[in-house]
Amino acid sequence: MKKILITGALGQIGSELTMKMRDIYGNDNVIASSRSAKDGSEKVVKAGPFEIVDVTNPQQIADAVKKHKIDTVINLAAILSAVGESKPNLAWDVNMGGLVNILEVAREFNTAVFTPSSIAAFGPNTPKINTPQDTIQRPTTMYGVTKVSGEILCDYYHQKFGVDTRGVRFPGLISYETLPGGGTTDYAVEIYYKAIEEGKFVCPLSKDTRMDMMYMPDALDAIINLAEADGSKLEHRNAFNVTAMSFTPEDIFASIKKQMPDFEMTYDVNDTLQNIADSWPDALDDSAARKEWNWNPKYDLDAMTKDMLEKLKIKLGK
Ligand code: NAD
Ligand code: SER
Repeated sequence: MKKILITGALGQIGSELTMKMRDIYGNDNVIASSRSAKDGSEKVVKAGPFEIVDVTNPQQIADAVKKHKIDTVINLAAILSAVGESKPNLAWDVNMGGLVNILEVAREFNTAVFTPSSIAAFGPNTPKINTPQDTIQRPTTMYGVTKVSGEILCDYYHQKFGVDTRGVRFPGLISYETLPGGGTTDYAVEIYYKAIEEGKFVCPLSKDTRMDMMYMPDALDAIINLAEADGSKLEHRNAFNVTAMSFTPEDIFASIKKQMPDFEMTYDVNDTLQNIADSWPDALDDSAARKEWNWNPKYDLDAMTKDMLEKLKIKLGK
């Protein structure tokens, strides 16, 4: 990777990935983009090259790729699960329409494309525990429909047109820099803010709702390491299961309580979020990623909790 375009760069992942990639590849070689400069992280817009790219507009993608002689597009523009259930047409237009546009530009200008999939690409009849790399995928959310379709479309562009497409199925991501964009796993970020700001949290999922999760530093490593991996060794290019931990609301509560003994949590279950969470796996098998490109996450739940609380206290001035 020498010249990189990041779409959706002001969101939860993009705001941190852009800064990390600028450190590694050089400030001028990582072009952040979003549909508006006001979509999120101001730091990213001011710290280096920025372009307006709405992924539903193929000309804007092509113009940015041509102008900056891009060799790799990291496509992070998306509508996430909870917002996608309230706006399914928008989720389809951005997640699928945007991806087709990017793949077509990649085909024309010979760029690589990295697009994250998600645990949402699985559904209620997928095996929930040790969810295999290759298994049944019948998701019941529009977000999940776009994610499994995107995986297959990226496979198609690689097989048919030779586009170097790659991706991982991310679990819920936890971070302190930029708030998540409207997903089902967002509670696992919000709980840390509430612990510090109010000492208590009302959880929107039931206490035994288990999902895979990952701390942002591991997620950034996953993107960079897979994008840099030897392509000849990749069998599952566009849909590697990756996970770092699997926990319930009770587990994360207990982890925070170890650091903040007075922290309290109650429950007020949101049926929409609960239904989505119940349709997703409990714990992925990520052995293909470990074998094919040496995936090896560093943070478990307690290590993440310690770092999140330390960093958030500084950010929130507490
Ligand atoms: P996010 O919602 O925080 O950021 C997405 C960004 O895309 C937002 O800044 C939004 O303004 C922008 N966007 C929306 N429509 C656009 C359009 N038409 N053109 C250009 N930009 C547009 O999302 P994220 O958490 O950073 O996720 C990035 C990718 O990772 C997505 O594909 C998502 O499905 C995937 N993913 C995220 C998680 C997670 O927990 N954060 C988990 C699994 C997969
Ligand atoms: N964190 C994401 C969501 O909940 C998972 O893809 O939508």
